[in-house]
Amino acid sequence: MTLRPILIHPDPRLKTVAEPVPEITDEIRRLADDMLETMYDAPGIGLAAPQIGRLSRLLVMDAAKEEETAQPMVLINPQVTWASDMRSVYEEGCLSIPEQFADVERPAEVEVRWLGLDGKTHSQRFDGLWATCVQHEIDHLDGKLFIDYLKPMKRQMITRRMVKLKRERARG
Ligand code: NI
Repeated sequence: MTLRPILIHPDPRLKTVAEPVPEITDEIRRLADDMLETMYDAPGIGLAAPQIGRLSRLLVMDAAKEEETAQPMVLINPQVTWASDMRSVYEEGCLSIPEQFADVERPAEVEVRWLGLDGKTHSQRFDGLWATCVQHEIDHLDGKLFIDYLKPMKRQMITRRMVKLKRERARG
């Protein structure tokens, strides 16, 4: 397994709608393994393929609580098939927007259908942190970031910070 560098906002690849994965290949399996390793290493609870510069509809996540055993999930071509009217607010962050956090309101529960690495179609209802996480990651596949839900002033402030961070990192 290989750690993959995570793109930092702003980057045009983070604003691009990703392409469906046509079939499960060994390369896709390796990509999923690398993404899980990269996510745990970061550490984070979710990572979408565009965040490592791969414009494919694939995401990994594990929103298990610290005291619980790991529950790594790989979702290929995921689709929200149902969302609750009830909404919830979580303070979100993103590995592509390091150390910036903001409250985002989303449906409290969603049902998602996806293709698994086993080649089978899966469907599951998510709630709590899992619901927020899966919606945040699916947004990445549509070129959308959590800061897109914020007021323009706040979004611009965070973007300026990221531009500065990228400049500092480039200098090394
Ligand atoms: Ni994110």
